[in-house]
Amino acid sequence: TWTPDAFVETTVAELKKKIGTDKVILGLSGGVDSTVAAVLLHKAIGKHLHCIFVNNGLLRKNEFEDVLKQYEGMGLNVKGVDASARFLDALAGESDPEKKRKIIGRVFVEVFDDESHLVEDAKWLAQGTIYPDVIESVSATGGPSATIKSHHNVGGLPDFMKLKVVEPLKMLFKDEVRRVGASMAISDDRLGRHPFPGPGLAIRILGDITREKVAILQEVDAIFIDGLRDWGLYDSVWQAGAMLLPVNSVGVMGDERTYEKCVALRAVESTDGMTADWVNLPYEFLQKTSNDIINKVPGVNRVVYDISSKPPATIEWE
Ligand code: XMP
Repeated sequence: TWTPDAFVETTVAELKKKIGTDKVILGLSGGVDSTVAAVLLHKAIGKHLHCIFVNNGLLRKNEFEDVLKQYEGMGLNVKGVDASARFLDALAGESDPEKKRKIIGRVFVEVFDDESHLVEDAKWLAQGTIYPDVIESVSATGGPSATIKSHHNVGGLPDFMKLKVVEPLKMLFKDEVRRVGASMAISDDRLGRHPFPGPGLAIRILGDITREKVAILQEVDAIFIDGLRDWGLYDSVWQAGAMLLPVNSVGVMGDERTYEKCVALRAVESTDGMTADWVNLPYEFLQKTSNDIINKVPGVNRVVYDISSKPPATIEWE
């Protein structure tokens, strides 16, 4: 019978044998799969694993700094690369959802290629690919590895794509990956984290992206997600987030008429993201969250809750 401890033991032994003293590069996303893959490889080859964690400027509030610290705390040899300006400059003026995704994919490949060149003599590229990614080949929720897969044919093969590939989680389902992570003492907080799309907040800002809009949405999202945690609702939701809508609406603040942004909150139940139902969050929670957002986030004067299921509505709005 399959147990996480036995899987770790066998896999670490296999990785040691396969990789020896070669250098390995791995792109961390903050997500469960890349984190578990990194910790497994770290157990096998220690400092020969070079992890790269890219900030695309579209992560949740404080996510880059917090997660980087967690990774360092786990003893991983990780380099945090803040490429926010590169991504946001490349996205300037673009409103089309698919073009935004392409730009982010392309810039990620460029940044990752630059960084991987700094690891001299690397022989392997490690990826947190899991079994559903293998069978579907196009992953809906993948991080860096999915980005790489869908963009590797744009403008020739970057050098890191020519490395030998090692995918230690290739035969595992998501729940098995979580169990393996838990058996290696990765925190529940990291393992129980909601899925977050590779393009991040870019596809939750409808229309074009500016630094100001990213900052507003990060604040709104943080109030919503922290609230879910505080109210003990986080784990009963599969995924949650906020969308910044490209509309202003009229409001009133004191004696002043306001004309400001509207945000939509979305929380869904799902098993794999293919179908999803909106979550019946308590009215008291929605009331408190809406008040907090409108009182604390300048530029937002209206909050709505998305009560659409997938299909036909997708989870993301773009
Ligand atoms: P939709 O919006 O298609 O989302 O119902 C289903 C799941 O996929 C995630 N998603 C993405 N993940 N790159 C990703 O890595 C993307 O471009 C992307 N678009 C959607 C979404 O967050 C949800 O979990």
